[in-house]
Amino acid sequence: MEFVTYEVEGQVGIITINRPKALNALNSAVLEELDKTFDAVDVNEIRALILTGAGEKSFVAGADIGEMSTLTKAEGEAFGKKGNDVFRKIETFPIPVIAAVNGFALGGGCEISMSCDIRICSDNAVFGQPEVGLGITPGFGGTQRLARVVGVGMAKQMIYTARNIKADEAYRIGLVNAVYTQEELMDAAKKLASTIAKNAPIAVRNCKKAINDGLQVDMDQAIVIEEKLFGDCFETEDQKAGMGNFLEKDKEKKLKVVPFQNK
Ligand code: CAA
Repeated sequence: MEFVTYEVEGQVGIITINRPKALNALNSAVLEELDKTFDAVDVNEIRALILTGAGEKSFVAGADIGEMSTLTKAEGEAFGKKGNDVFRKIETFPIPVIAAVNGFALGGGCEISMSCDIRICSDNAVFGQPEVGLGITPGFGGTQRLARVVGVGMAKQMIYTARNIKADEAYRIGLVNAVYTQEELMDAAKKLASTIAKNAPIAVRNCKKAINDGLQVDMDQAIVIEEKLFGDCFETEDQKAGMGNFLEKDKEKKLKVVPFQNK
C-alpha cells in the first residue's frame, strides 16, 4: 500500500491515510487502498478501529481537486460512487470505527469522518464542506450524513455557506464528541477503542447494527430490529460469561477480563 497504513495494537486496528504531501486528499488510489484495507481487517480478532491521517496538519483535506477538475458528468458521478461505496463500507463495518481527526477535515475529509461511528478531534481540527465554493455539491455523503449528525438547519448553513468551523464549534454542534490537544488525541482514541474492545463483541456489533438500521425505518419497525438483535445475543458465550460474571459474587472474578467468544 502506498497511501494507507494499517497497524494492530492488541484488539485495536489503526488505519492511517498517508498522503501528507497533499494533506491526505482522497484520490482514486487512496480510495481503492482504503477499500482493500477495510476488507483485510480480521474482524474476529479486531474489536474496534481508529481512522486517522498522517502528519500533524491534516486528517483529510477532501477529495482530490486535481483529479476531479477534468471529470465529465458521468465520471463525476462514478467518482462519487467510488467514495460513497467505501464510506458506506466503513459505516456498515461490523465493528466500531473511531475517527481521530487530527487537523483539516474538509469536504471528503468531513464526510469520511461522518461515516465513522464516533468522531473525536485535536484542537487544531477544522471541519467544513467547501464544495459549493468549488462549483460542486458534497459528493461523498455530506448532503446526507451532515444533516443526520448535526441537524438539517446547521447542515444547510455549513453546506450553503462553505464556511469552515474550528474544533470548539464542531464540539458545540455535536459533530465531534470530544476535543484533545494534538499530543493527547491518539492516546484518547486508543483508550476509547480499548474500552469498547473490552466489552462483549457480539453485543457491540449488534448495537451498531441496531442503531444504524433502526435509524432508517420508523419506530415500529425499529424496535423489531432491536428485538431481533437483542435475542441474537442470547445463548452466546458473551452473554453467558457476561451475565455469569455479574451473578458470580466473587469480586475478583468479576474484574477479570472475560474470554468473550467471537461469532
Ligand atoms: N486536493 C488535492 N490537493 C490538495 C487538496 C485537495 N483537496 N488539499 C490540499 N491539497 C494539496 C495542495 O494542492 C498542496 O499541494 P502542493 O504543495 O503540491 O501545491 C498541498 O496539499 C498543501 O496544501 P496548501 O499549500 O493549500 O496548504 P495550506 O496550509 O495553505 O492550506 C487547506 C490548507 C486550507 C486545507 C487548503 O489546502 C485547501 O483549502 N485545500 C482544499 C480543501 C477543499 O476544498 N476540500 C474539499 C474538496 S472537494 C470534495 O471533497 C468533494 C467531495 O465531497 C467528494
